[in-house]
Amino acid sequence: MIKTIESINGVVRMIDQTRLPTEKVFVDCTTIEEVGQAIQTMIIRGAPAIGVAAAMGVSLGADVITATNFDDFYRAMEQQCEQLGKSRPTAVNLAWAIKRMKQVAKDSRHLPIPELKSRLKEESLTILTEDIKINQAMGQHGQTLVENDNVILTHCNAGALATAGFGTALGVIRASVNAGKNIRVLANETRPFLQGARLTAWELKEDNIPVKLITDSMCGFFMRKKEVDLVVVGADRIAGNGDVANKIGTYMVAVLAKENNIPFYVAAPVSTLDLSLSSGDQIPIEERSAEEVVVINNKRMAPEGIEVAHPAFDITPNNLITAIITEEGIARPPFTDSLKAMAQKK
Ligand code: MRU
Repeated sequence: MIKTIESINGVVRMIDQTRLPTEKVFVDCTTIEEVGQAIQTMIIRGAPAIGVAAAMGVSLGADVITATNFDDFYRAMEQQCEQLGKSRPTAVNLAWAIKRMKQVAKDSRHLPIPELKSRLKEESLTILTEDIKINQAMGQHGQTLVENDNVILTHCNAGALATAGFGTALGVIRASVNAGKNIRVLANETRPFLQGARLTAWELKEDNIPVKLITDSMCGFFMRKKEVDLVVVGADRIAGNGDVANKIGTYMVAVLAKENNIPFYVAAPVSTLDLSLSSGDQIPIEERSAEEVVVINNKRMAPEGIEVAHPAFDITPNNLITAIITEEGIARPPFTDSLKAMAQKK
């Protein structure tokens, strides 16, 4: 199994996803600042994986707080968390994990500080193991939507590498394969960061799941030729009305799926729901560097000085989404009701 992130003797070890697929190397983080940096630079990425990393980062931060009473300890912890929370804005799992760790600290205020630190570490490990179980449950629900011999198109990487393991969208694919279905995957390369080409293609190949790589602009061609049976993608944040923020290009895929009568599914844990937002328009969209758009393999692809835009995510409106697969079941329109029901099951 691919171990995206783990804790080894007080060190948070992650696969460096900027170096895949050519090199499988690990990065060790020993401070909360290093974890924040790893999230910012996309050494670790994908909403659930960011959440797990954040929880582990909070634990590393707590370990070096020297305060001897809870109030001072919590004040220092809040400052660290505020900084960590700024590392990436769109995936709500970052804020979700930080909030959960802060709540654990508050609930454990009666404990001596060394024990409180151990409790935080334990919680971060629980978040990791829970994430794998959640993905497996999501996969079980999702595979009921998949038939034998289906071709599934996916965008970006919502796989083991984007989670603690198994994946969300790729979890649905893995569970379908485990259920004995013959599945083939079309993977969009996902410009500009190439999560599809570098990460999805790599991890499906590792698992011997048939995958064909296409550029993003080719997916309409294959849909129109009726060579795609369904689309499954992940999500970074889902608003209360079912609008989905996911990797840039997802909206385009959803429009094409609708035009071609192809079901469009989103697989995401309940921790990715942000029911405090009534619409996707309220989701902050990360703007990343121009460098990531114009430089490929150290080679500049556009003239110097050219103006470049790089929104890293887009919003897919709920009317383009057939269903949202969570670990608690499959939510269908109207999403305002069905997503609330999923959250209440938790
Ligand atoms: O910028 P990234 O690579 O962090 O974006 C990742 C995605 O958009 C994924 O589809 C999403 O986080 C879901 S991962 C299970």
